[in-house]
Amino acid sequence: MPLSKIAGIGKYVPANIVTNNDLTKYMETNDEWIQERTGIQERRYAHRTEETTTTMAVEAAKIAIERAGTTAEEIDFIIFATLSPDYYFPGCGVLVQRAMKMKEIGALDIRNQCSGFVYALSVADQFIKSGMYKNILVIGSEKHSFGLDFTTRGRNVSVIFGDGAGAVVLQPTEKEGQGILSTHLHSDGESAEMLAMYNPGTHANHWGTQNYADFDEAEIAQMFLSKKMMDNAQLYPFMDGPAVFKKAVVKFPEVIMEALSKNGYTTTDIDMLIPHQANLRISQFVQQKLKLADDKVYNNIQHYGNTTAASIPIALCEAWEKGKIKEGDLVCLAAFGSGFTWASALMKW
Ligand code: UT7
Repeated sequence: MPLSKIAGIGKYVPANIVTNNDLTKYMETNDEWIQERTGIQERRYAHRTEETTTTMAVEAAKIAIERAGTTAEEIDFIIFATLSPDYYFPGCGVLVQRAMKMKEIGALDIRNQCSGFVYALSVADQFIKSGMYKNILVIGSEKHSFGLDFTTRGRNVSVIFGDGAGAVVLQPTEKEGQGILSTHLHSDGESAEMLAMYNPGTHANHWGTQNYADFDEAEIAQMFLSKKMMDNAQLYPFMDGPAVFKKAVVKFPEVIMEALSKNGYTTTDIDMLIPHQANLRISQFVQQKLKLADDKVYNNIQHYGNTTAASIPIALCEAWEKGKIKEGDLVCLAAFGSGFTWASALMKW
């Protein structure tokens, strides 16, 4: 059974740089608070009309496909991870298939937020190992800026997130000892509402996520999208930041250790850890806990913010482009986020 390897990788971030100071035009915040709590200095925001989650993904995919030495026509499956799709449905996978003039191949969208890319990679890995596909395009892309609450009310969430895309092409390896060694996927729905966007959705307050007092009887009977939902910030993401932080610093090390021990490695064997870029403080905590040297962990949240499903492929691509990942290196990807879901992937580059 052949292992799968990342044969090509690409990233795309919008040209528009938004600094912490730029955000002070819309909300009460400041550069010091944002940098101290998150490490973020700036993020990118996509063009309002000319860039979408899919168009950014296509740009990243073109690079990944070229670097893999293949063509869009040769791709035989697409897996697209995002929480900010162009449409509520259909998913972005089919839009990539159309935009890149691919064959009538399968396209799958993954909804696992911050761990979406690692989940997507894991699914692709199984298809390659089973021999079903030979050239899978795996994408993580987000256009968060379209739907954040840019008022002081939403500042704990809106200052964190940024836009961008990353993509890889997964192929079977011919080389002994190269490729994805294992992937590890987890979830715990107990805290599903701690980091979530409740609407649009079919829940009609079933889980108690809306304040009924805000709605009249006719609205409750329907519980469809309304201006009141917008006014009450119920069409924006909600995050209990401190609760997410506490869980993240436990689950990141746990899932990294799971990947290492499954393959007979220890933390000293890691050449490069690419953590999901949730918060620089979380990454630093994980680094300290695992006693990893500075050059064994790659962070770029300082410049892109948290790009959710795109953060790992963007960071992985940038680390590789800077020559920080070489053939034969032991590379670990790890993510934690909304769901809660968390995941890791261990590979020999
Ligand atoms: O990738 C998805 C997974 N997400 C995460 O991993 C996020 C994990 N959580 C975090 O990163 C942190 O919890 C945050 C960065 C979101 C927030 O940091 P915190 O230290 O947990 O702050 P807090 O939410 O406890 O808020 C502390 C104070 C509050 O004011 P009071 O009540 O103490 O007066 C907030 O209103 O900071 C205030 N605050 C802000 N002040 C300036 C919240 N957001 C801001 C802001 N600017 N942007």
